[in-house]
Amino acid sequence: MTPEKHRAGRGVPRREIVGQITRGTTNTNRLRRVDRWIARHPVLRRAADPLVVDLGYGASGVTAFELEARLRAARQGVEVVGLEIDPARVARANAQLGDVRAGRTPFRPDARVAFARGGFEVPMPEAFAARRPAIIRAFNVLRQYDESDVAGAWALMCARLQPSGILVEGTCDELGRVCTWIEVGADAAPRSLTLSLRLAELESPGIAAERLPKALIHRNVPGEPVHAFLAALDAEWVRAAASAPFGPVHRWRTALDALAASDWPVQGRSRWRLGEVTVPWATVAPALPTR
Ligand SMILES: C[S@@+](CC[C@H](N)C(=O)[O-])C[C@H]1O[C@@H](n2cnc3c(N)ncnc32)[C@H](O)[C@@H]1O
Repeated sequence: MTPEKHRAGRGVPRREIVGQITRGTTNTNRLRRVDRWIARHPVLRRAADPLVVDLGYGASGVTAFELEARLRAARQGVEVVGLEIDPARVARANAQLGDVRAGRTPFRPDARVAFARGGFEVPMPEAFAARRPAIIRAFNVLRQYDESDVAGAWALMCARLQPSGILVEGTCDELGRVCTWIEVGADAAPRSLTLSLRLAELESPGIAAERLPKALIHRNVPGEPVHAFLAALDAEWVRAAASAPFGPVHRWRTALDALAASDWPVQGRSRWRLGEVTVPWATVAPALPTR
């Protein structure tokens, strides 16, 4: 990971922006599954200051506007700061913000969203200076880095969180139908892995392997815990085929019940109907050291 140093202006101390500009691919509604999960998260509900960062929002600010709109419905006073390492994308998002304020978009003109340039060091724009985020969502950002960059990026981002805050770091496909993420605590320790899949027309939950977060995507090989978990999930999905006529949600629940019966610590039962499942990090943590 290359720290990019730049001088902010005359007399202004040198500031280090950590990371690198990568492809800006994004899509309207792509992050709905993780947004819905964050909206229900106790950290958002209990935070004294519900400040949320969307780190690496990409070529358009749309996912930051969507995040604010979805979280606003769950928690009063939510504010979203979108951070991007690419200055051209910050300019573009600020132009979009102008359109939002002018009422030229479907988003509320008073949307509490701001954009600024920044990297994994998570700088706060001047108006937010003394505040720390309760939640940082970094989606499809680390995917384009090396696995060996993950721990350092997590440590930098987590150091900026409120003491009970979380980093939600994950990946999804273009349309947001296959989505996975890791919840990381303010101590930079990973806590859980969540898979969130569109169950309609799902052929195999193993499709999640292609969209695992960077910390796990190279670990889907025999001998690694995440491989064993996905294989067990796939096997139970196949065994649950008899439930398919009752619909994919029924089949998914049947598969997860069977996993639970075989002592897999599958969590988030109330969210299974959404095509989600969460497991503690210990269930999938890499067995071999980071390459
Ligand atoms: C693939 S886009 C993801 C856009 C959006 N989050 C999504 O999931 O649809 C990744 C973005 O992350 C930005 N990025 C990469 N490293 C970053 C860093 N260290 N800090 C901030 N932004 C970063 C890239 O410039 C790029 O625009």
